[in-house]
Amino acid sequence: TARVRVHHLQQAKERGERWAMLTAYDTSSATVFEEAGIPVMLVGDSSGNVVLGHASTVPVTVEDLLLMTRAVTRSTTRSLIVADLPFGSYEASPEQAFGTAVRMMKEGGAQAVKLEGGERVAPQIRLLHDSGIPVMAHIGFTPQSEHALGGFRVQGRGAGADRLLADAHAVQDAGAFAVVLEMVPAELAAKVTAELAIPTIGIGAGPHCDAQVLVWPDMAGLTGGRVPRFVKKYADLRGELLRAAREYADEVRNGTFPGPEHSFE
Ligand code: KIV
Ligand code: NA
Repeated sequence: TARVRVHHLQQAKERGERWAMLTAYDTSSATVFEEAGIPVMLVGDSSGNVVLGHASTVPVTVEDLLLMTRAVTRSTTRSLIVADLPFGSYEASPEQAFGTAVRMMKEGGAQAVKLEGGERVAPQIRLLHDSGIPVMAHIGFTPQSEHALGGFRVQGRGAGADRLLADAHAVQDAGAFAVVLEMVPAELAAKVTAELAIPTIGIGAGPHCDAQVLVWPDMAGLTGGRVPRFVKKYADLRGELLRAAREYADEVRNGTFPGPEHSFE
């Protein structure tokens, strides 16, 4: 089967079929998620937190994401791979966004890019779209702006609802093929989903979006410490890996590993 394309996601919305997106940063995660039939993977700057050990997505560089994007695109043939544009690599102008997006496509092998913001990045989305680069938008809570937004907070409450709706329409009108809604009240996300022709992808945005996305180490229970309320843990990989690492170390110490079956005559 050929790779998923953006028009397939549009058709899914028209047929009322929901789909799941996951982040992926390397070959092991990407190959598993493709085998699981995940149609879209995001090489997200959430890697700043979950792979690179930063406290936020702000320090993530284009080079960081290019390295991971190459790993994921090399490892997949069917899932559509979206590369995030990191903080500072697209905001200044449409031309800056174009330069970064082209690198993600040519050097990274991505089939689409994602950037954060609504009306303020509409000119960027327009130029990329007109240049043949599929763009996924991201509105609501946008982690690259956490310092301006005052931390992790639900967006679009009260008077913010009109702002969010305007942003959703602005990114669609500029040519985005889909839009991530992060930490938006469920009712508002339902309204955006009904009003827009393009798919909405929710994260902390309730059940009425056309699609959902989660950061994979969060949903697989690999992330240490607290995870946001919107995360459902589908596994306890941290517990399992901890057990495996301890057992391995014990067996080395007590001499049971390696056994004869792991050794050469
Ligand atoms: O970087 C990321 O993982 C994201 C998703 C949470 C949408 O932007
Ligand atoms: Na991101």
